[in-house]
Amino acid sequence: MVHIFKSAYKIMTGVGAISHLGSEIARLKMNHPLVVTDKMIKKAGLLEEVTVALAGRSYGIFLEVEPEPAFSVVEACKQTFVAGGHDGVIAIGGGSALDTAKATAAYVRYNGALADLIGTDLVPTKGVPLIAIPTTAGTGSEVTNIAILSDNDAKLKKGMVSDHLLPDVAIVSPELSRTTPPAVTAASGIDALVHGIEAYLSVNASPLTDAFALQAIEKIARNLPEAYAKPTNLAAREEMAVASLMAGMAFGNAGVGAVHALAYPLGGRFNMAHGVSNAVLLPYVMRENKVACVDRLAVIAEVLGVKEIGMGASEGADQAISAMERLCDQVHIPSNLREFGIRRADLTAMAEDASKIDRLLKNNPRPLERDTILSIYERAWAGRSV
Ligand SMILES: NC(=O)c1ccc[n+]([C@@H]2O[C@H](COP(=O)([O-])OP(=O)(O)OC[C@H]3O[C@@H](n4cnc5c(N)ncnc54)[C@H](O)[C@@H]3O)[C@@H](O)[C@H]2O)c1
Ligand SMILES: [Fe+2]
Repeated sequence: MVHIFKSAYKIMTGVGAISHLGSEIARLKMNHPLVVTDKMIKKAGLLEEVTVALAGRSYGIFLEVEPEPAFSVVEACKQTFVAGGHDGVIAIGGGSALDTAKATAAYVRYNGALADLIGTDLVPTKGVPLIAIPTTAGTGSEVTNIAILSDNDAKLKKGMVSDHLLPDVAIVSPELSRTTPPAVTAASGIDALVHGIEAYLSVNASPLTDAFALQAIEKIARNLPEAYAKPTNLAAREEMAVASLMAGMAFGNAGVGAVHALAYPLGGRFNMAHGVSNAVLLPYVMRENKVACVDRLAVIAEVLGVKEIGMGASEGADQAISAMERLCDQVHIPSNLREFGIRRADLTAMAEDASKIDRLLKNNPRPLERDTILSIYERAWAGRSV
């Protein structure tokens, strides 16, 4: 089987990587870029990291990104880009800012409606030059070919998926994540963990994505509790930033599966943060998947250090899933859907929506039909003790 591996054109990592921003702006010949971010990033003092590099140049700032951005945010960002006559995009922030920027960079080169570009391979040409600077660890959006947007009418999150979205430069400067609030550290960190796990279990996994996925899983399990409990611990932040990047490189090529598919309706209908919805569903989906990927789950157990010598694959797989649960507990993410105000009566419509997300379900180690998805939601709704 032939595998293709794609990523951002250039990736810079390590504390201080942001100091290379100025030379990348010049290399990409951005004469009047638009900086895409949100008010929290400005408040945290991170916007200055970009404006320092832009000193002496003309530029604009779009500050209106919202968490889990809606189509309307991208429309507004395009308007600002066009009205300001900009020629490139610099994104700084979490996945929400990066995805808004990626979608906008492509959309400004397209004359039709934004909705035309939602789906797989529907973006006709490469967008304007794009530099992505993540401040969470994270979505891995700085190296993936996808922008996830909220379709508020359909109450679903939807993906714009195209290689034309791959950033020209990803600058992963871990010190930028020291101000990330603990709840965001937890949610985005578990999102990265799920990227690694789902990429490793994907039917499209390859030797390259496996290497990145397993390294990412190991680093996240070892460093997320520390980054959550001690936000300014730079060593833990650095490990998390690289792990998030690696998980992005893994899932950007192998894809994610049923955890993400079942999470989409939670984001779309109940506005749950992407990482939180993934975290709640993770163990329930893994127990359903286990029969189809017991050996790979056992490898994850080894990586997590919970598979003892002599332990069989099945017990190892169970240990891996329990370790995932413990990690979510350690960073205080609730373990059932009831705690988010979701009613049992909501689950049927959620299962209907999730069962249509074939783009992700087709990567899952086993096919999941609507009824199975409903039963997973019911278990996740009831919680562990039932
Ligand atoms: N494109 C992809 O490959 C991909 C992958 C996974 C998730 N996503 C999407 O990314 C979004 C979630 O991104 P996220 O988890 O990074 O969160 P986010 O971008 O929504 O940020 C959450 C909040 O944290 C704040 N924040 C972020 N970094 C900070 C910092 N260093 N200091 C202070 N505040 C900070 C933001 O301003 C925001 O208010 C969702 O829409 C999700 O669907 C995209
Ligand atoms: Fe994700």
